[in-house]
Amino acid sequence: MPLVNMKDMLAHAHRTGYAVGAYDLVSLHFLEGIMEAAECDRAPVILSLAESHFRHFDFTLAMAATVAAARRASVPVAIHLDHGESLQSAIDAIRLGCNGVMVDGSHLPFAENVACTREVVEMAHGCGVPVEGELGYVPGVEGEDAKLHPGELSMTTPEEAAAFVAQTGVDFLAVSIGTVHGRMQGTPRLDIERLAAINARLDMPLVIHGGTGLADEQYRALIANGVAKINYFTALSDAAAEAIRRNAAQGAKGYTGLTEGVHVAVEAECRRMNALWGSAGKADACLAACRPWREVEHLIIYNVAGIDEAEALERAEEGRRVLGAIPGVRRIEHGVALRPDARYRFAWLIRFAAPEVVGNYRTHPDHVRFADEKFRPVAADRISIDYEVG
Ligand code: 13P
Repeated sequence: MPLVNMKDMLAHAHRTGYAVGAYDLVSLHFLEGIMEAAECDRAPVILSLAESHFRHFDFTLAMAATVAAARRASVPVAIHLDHGESLQSAIDAIRLGCNGVMVDGSHLPFAENVACTREVVEMAHGCGVPVEGELGYVPGVEGEDAKLHPGELSMTTPEEAAAFVAQTGVDFLAVSIGTVHGRMQGTPRLDIERLAAINARLDMPLVIHGGTGLADEQYRALIANGVAKINYFTALSDAAAEAIRRNAAQGAKGYTGLTEGVHVAVEAECRRMNALWGSAGKADACLAACRPWREVEHLIIYNVAGIDEAEALERAEEGRRVLGAIPGVRRIEHGVALRPDARYRFAWLIRFAAPEVVGNYRTHPDHVRFADEKFRPVAADRISIDYEVG
């Protein structure tokens, strides 16, 4: 159950002065390590999946495990799409169970970043899902040496930040104030005055990308100036790799031997950051401040008239395809009664990401067309119910 509303989670962190770790996971070992750390520390946590990493694992399969881990947690958890590359990526992520999304337009000119982000906000808010936007460019690639990707750092200005938030409606803003994704030599210089000015202007949870490799006092300064979410990957990746090298040095040969203890290495690194960022010990207070993340099921049982069973099943197949693509629909099933004498012959079970989806689904043009042309005229004998689950 402690999958929670990420907006509430970050509002709590922002209000009470700590930052939640948004740890990018790339395998089950990472997922286990991150969750063990959060449970041991009683820390709220964000399970983050970055689209740039999808070539390393199957996003759909990883999401099934991620949702299961979040659901069984006793600490507040949110699941976030990190650096999504398109509106469709955000729709897919919500379908698979993300309850926070980011589509990264930070490399685009201001107006294009606004247009792209606003489109994502409209779609995601229609699903009840909060959105992170990024303004200003944080160069580098997670998990790699920063010097291999020497992009031009472009800092966020308070004026542009205010205009961006007003024009897009984002819930959290990732700012560029000197951090770099990936492995750096030395610690970067951060423009904390700039961050303070942005925070004073916006008073909303701010996000830092490129969380690896800062000095302890730099993290503290970030949090004191409005940062409520810190994205962190390279250090976890390095800790995991070090565990594998140690196993290899001790003679491990097979996959299971080489990866033995990787989750423990990831856990240790997350625990160090949970303590430093102040999220350790905040689970109960955060949970009390967060709306639980509840999904909705829409169940219809019905009989058809005027078409035969084969035609009914064909229409059901079309409905599965058309309705399943509507944003906020997580799952769609259709079935036929096992007993031939059942009072109702057919059933639809549609799972929505959140209660907000229900109204938008009903009025979505694809739903209206299918319902008015293919379903309602032949399925007058039906009953339906919407109910919250999870
Ligand atoms: P690091 O890899 O530098 O920790 O940055 C992670 C990140 O910003 C993911 O979005």
